[in-house]
Amino acid sequence: MYKILEKKGLTVNQTLYKVEAPHVAEKVQPGQFVIIRAFENGERIPVTPVRWSKEEGWVDLIVLTRGKTTKRMEVELQEGGYLLDIAGPLGNPAEHFSGKKILAIGIMTGLVEVYPIAKMWKEEGNTLITLHVTPEPLLFMQEEFESFSDKHIIDAYPMTETWIPDLGVHAVDSVKKIMEEDKPDMVFIVGPTEVQYAVFNVVKEYGVEMEVDLHPIMVDGTGMCGACRVTVGGEVKFACVDGPSFDAYKVDFEELISRNNFYLDKEQFSMKLYLESIQGGAQ
Ligand code: FES
Repeated sequence: MYKILEKKGLTVNQTLYKVEAPHVAEKVQPGQFVIIRAFENGERIPVTPVRWSKEEGWVDLIVLTRGKTTKRMEVELQEGGYLLDIAGPLGNPAEHFSGKKILAIGIMTGLVEVYPIAKMWKEEGNTLITLHVTPEPLLFMQEEFESFSDKHIIDAYPMTETWIPDLGVHAVDSVKKIMEEDKPDMVFIVGPTEVQYAVFNVVKEYGVEMEVDLHPIMVDGTGMCGACRVTVGGEVKFACVDGPSFDAYKVDFEELISRNNFYLDKEQFSMKLYLESIQGGAQ
């Protein structure tokens, strides 16, 4: 059991949980993630620690409410309560670089994962341009990014009904502008696969190196279940043990997009039932 030391709503649907997890805080490195389980028989959710203290033994997790389990977390978990499990750290740490001009992009809550990596790259002697593309009500971490980025660019726009296409349109426009004006020599992006693919199609026109953090459906996080299978360079890879970061030029984005959407209907149905149960006062 992992005690929730602090719970704070950051935006309309992003919640910070500061959790006592000394074994994670001791070992985690930028680029790695954990898999949490909040409830008995509950779903396992991959989350990237945004900050941690080795000395004090805690990690900060920021969770986007997007399905039944994350909604239950938002409603039912409180400060002083507990997460059932935290497995990790999992995945490979981010690579080390110096002397590069890097554009690091966070799409909506993807910014969480960018934070420890971009900060590390800045400390290692790279020039860092960071970009956050998001609907305005979900804008967050502005001061944190401004504190270390050479330039932090925000593309925030009013909330719309069509999330992914609008994120894609904004991301593509902003990235085109940055590629022309700032001429980065490496691009890194965390966000929905559809948006990563749209941005990749811009970046490849410039022949610039690009890394993507992939987020397929995950179950065990140890390479055993096969749920996070992705095709990279024509080979089968598992995002949890071979990634999560991959060379964008080698990723089969179209296959990944269709796999990611496989359970969408079931997720939405399950969320609907949960909302009806809490609104109706049941259980
Ligand atoms: S999550 Fe099971 S193989 Fe990666």
